[in-house]
Amino acid sequence: MSLKGIRKAVLQVDPYVPGKTTEEVMCEKGLKNVIKLGSNENPYGPFPNALKAMTEELSRLNTYPDVSFKEIKRAIADLSGLGSENVCISHGAEGMLQTIGKTFLDPGDEVIIPSSTYGLYREISKLMGARVIEVPMKGEHYIDLHGCLKVLSERTKLIWLNNPNNPTGTVFDREGIQGIFREMPSHSWVILDEAYGEFTDPSFLTDTASFIREGKNVISVRTFSKAFGLAGARIGYCLCSKELSVVIDTVSEPFNANRIGIAGALATLKDDREEYLKALSGIRKERERLIHGFENLGLRPVRSHANFVFVETGFNGAILADMMLDKGVIVRPCNGWDYPSSLRITVGTPRENEIMLLVLSETLEDLRKEVSH
Ligand SMILES: Cc1ncc(COP(=O)(O)O)c(C=O)c1O
Repeated sequence: MSLKGIRKAVLQVDPYVPGKTTEEVMCEKGLKNVIKLGSNENPYGPFPNALKAMTEELSRLNTYPDVSFKEIKRAIADLSGLGSENVCISHGAEGMLQTIGKTFLDPGDEVIIPSSTYGLYREISKLMGARVIEVPMKGEHYIDLHGCLKVLSERTKLIWLNNPNNPTGTVFDREGIQGIFREMPSHSWVILDEAYGEFTDPSFLTDTASFIREGKNVISVRTFSKAFGLAGARIGYCLCSKELSVVIDTVSEPFNANRIGIAGALATLKDDREEYLKALSGIRKERERLIHGFENLGLRPVRSHANFVFVETGFNGAILADMMLDKGVIVRPCNGWDYPSSLRITVGTPRENEIMLLVLSETLEDLRKEVSH
């Protein structure tokens, strides 16, 4: 790079590779209809009252939002069973992950990260000059908490855990986390990214609120982008101890969520419960249909607890995804996570899923024909 003066740590950070947008694919491929199942969005959002509240909020955009986020913190507290003082708001979960990095990481600190998980943990840690200790997955697709335990050291500052895990959709066992709490130094923190937690049967999730009440060093990171259907409004939050929330709010930039996002999130929680539950149940039902659909095509899906399904295809995932893109279906190849023959496919509406399965089936047939020639 020819620019001078950039921090050394910044030069180590890899740019985020987002999924393609519908508009990009329409333009690139000259297609009229594109189905986007590459970014784990919720096809049913925004819900009707959220949409109304966000539209009404437009006329107030000349003024800053409430810097203390009083109302939305109260609504999230009611949802979680904790108090408002246990909630911090952010610009998407991504904003909270960045703030957590800034809050805890000094150069030379160690962070523990499972080898195939959400990529931002690694980049944020590198940006702060921390040393990344990678823990291989267990049985290919599962976060290995015992493996994390084995690499704990006095230098461990953060243990980044995603439950359910992106891209595999798997959850880890609830008891494993207790071992980490028992063994980790008192200055270490478990970051539980539960961005997809609402799609999971609660019996598979850890009871993060009770860990916080017990005074464990844990932060739960959550978002309105997935189950609540507000990815474009960019609003996320965390649950943590009262003491830590003061620190996190201090480190966060002021006004780090916007009026539209706050209005949408509030209305979703207060007035859209019925629509939200309907969407959740629709996604869970379709998730099962996708799993059966993949099995019927001779593929190996992994049992998912999120709004996407990870599937082993036996072909190069990047090539397969590219061929599907030509036919107007965006899915996510998992080559970058070291799964060269897998795809991560978001659960869409029944119609979107139907078309995706058809396109996948045709594409696999083409690839099989190529191999047999
Ligand atoms: C595991 C995980 N955490 C956090 C995020 C960021 O979500 P947000 O849209 O709230 O920034 C994502 C987005 O895909 C994710 O997959």
